[in-house]
Amino acid sequence: MAYRPLSAVVLAAGEGTRMRSATPKVLHPLCGRPMLLHVLDTLVALPLERIVVVVGHGAERVTKTLQEQLATEIPVEFVEQRVQRGTGDAASVGLTAFADELGTDDDVLVLTGDTPLLRADTLADLATEHRLADAAATLLTAELDDPTGYGRVVRDARGNVERIVEQPDANGAELEIAEVNPSIYCFRRAFLAPALRRLSPENAQGEYYLTDVVGVLRQAGHQVLGVAAADPTETLGVNDRAQLAVAEAILRRRICDRWMREGVTMADPARTYIDVTVELEPDVRILPGTMLEGRTVVGAGSVIGPDTRLVDTIVGERATITFSVAREAEVGDEATIGPYAHLRPGTHVGMRAKIGNFVEAKNADIGEGAKASHLTYLGDVEVGADANIGAGTITANYDGVRKNRTKIGRDAHIGSNNTLVAPVEIGDGAYTGAGSVVTRDVPPGALAKGVPARSEEGWVAARHARDETETETEEGV
Ligand code: UD1
Ligand code: CA
Repeated sequence: MAYRPLSAVVLAAGEGTRMRSATPKVLHPLCGRPMLLHVLDTLVALPLERIVVVVGHGAERVTKTLQEQLATEIPVEFVEQRVQRGTGDAASVGLTAFADELGTDDDVLVLTGDTPLLRADTLADLATEHRLADAAATLLTAELDDPTGYGRVVRDARGNVERIVEQPDANGAELEIAEVNPSIYCFRRAFLAPALRRLSPENAQGEYYLTDVVGVLRQAGHQVLGVAAADPTETLGVNDRAQLAVAEAILRRRICDRWMREGVTMADPARTYIDVTVELEPDVRILPGTMLEGRTVVGAGSVIGPDTRLVDTIVGERATITFSVAREAEVGDEATIGPYAHLRPGTHVGMRAKIGNFVEAKNADIGEGAKASHLTYLGDVEVGADANIGAGTITANYDGVRKNRTKIGRDAHIGSNNTLVAPVEIGDGAYTGAGSVVTRDVPPGALAKGVPARSEEGWVAARHARDETETETEEGV
């Protein structure tokens, strides 16, 4: 088998008009990662000499996103296609990244930025077939029940690939062809470059079609190989939001299957939404309606859901989170959260601590074994270990100008319906009475009670009498 170095060119300069979006198509996310990054993650898994991305529409944004989110040894190179004249023109622009040293003979994978389901093995197999056959070009093909929108693969009487015809240029018989071009090719670069120079935009869309290279190569007497994809769903192209949803559903299922193989239980994988960036440990149990997003990590034996959304949240082992929302938070081992709790950024819930129903926490350090079981707001607060926060407690952290901190000592008991007016500190083991408004520090071991209700005896009768006099006066007018 002829070994030649292998590189890849990704076409990602198009606007993606059919998405009807202010965001370039290739940046639309699937399972928490932009479409184009899925393609690049696949490429990075292969032994490639270089990876070239052709950018154009939203070039700056696309380049920046890739640079920020792609961790790889292989430096990705960017070339700009200033005017989008079609995929053939984009491929030509991509090839300008390759210095034409004399005697270089290499292969180049050309693919589009809108096929996020493609697997590395499929590309590796394509390159192998290409080398085994010593073909000028090898294209992946797929048989689809509904080939609408794709270029069709036209084969000659002997079954060899002859050319590709785009849907807008196809005649009735060609439209019947179920074998499509997913736009995933392996080319011998020495043959691709001259073939691209022979393209013309005389077609229904007035564009330079990369697909025309196939016919050009065949006419020049070269061999073009068509290799059927083992799993046609991998070749799904995303042009509009309906296809985006279909692709995302397939990817989501793949992610769930992977975690189930790794020892995670899912009551209903069809109703479980896990980003590609999430990490789960064995014996995690996920109940329906749960979304795990971003850099979320869940430790062994924890139970998450139903209907829980965790974004960039770290959960320890054997914790329970029910019907709740958390973002940029940390939940310790064996802690219980919810139902209906909201953990906002900067919240750290200690081991075995409890955050109960209708509790909101923000920038809150909740100590080991501490409890806030009901109807509470904990903002900018440090709660000591084993402290107990009574129902309806509010940390009044905002004085209209700045956010102030509350410190509650270990083993402190905050009575029901307290307002702790920050900055304020409740000492270790201190108690506050029900309904207190605490504006001054409470020493350790002290009891603070406040705003006692004073009774005004006979107030109700007095009011009735007053009301009656007023009514008589009005009628007398
Ligand atoms: C293309 C193929 C079609 C194939 C389909 C598979 C052509 C002419 N047609 O059609 O045979 O079935 O993909 O999904 O190649 N792009 C550029 N610069 C341009 C134009 C496009 O970089 O000037 C990029 C786009 O960003 C996109 C890719 O090339 O990532 C494909 O372009 P798109 O417009 O989606 O082509 P399709 O109509 O899907
Ligand atoms: Ca496309």
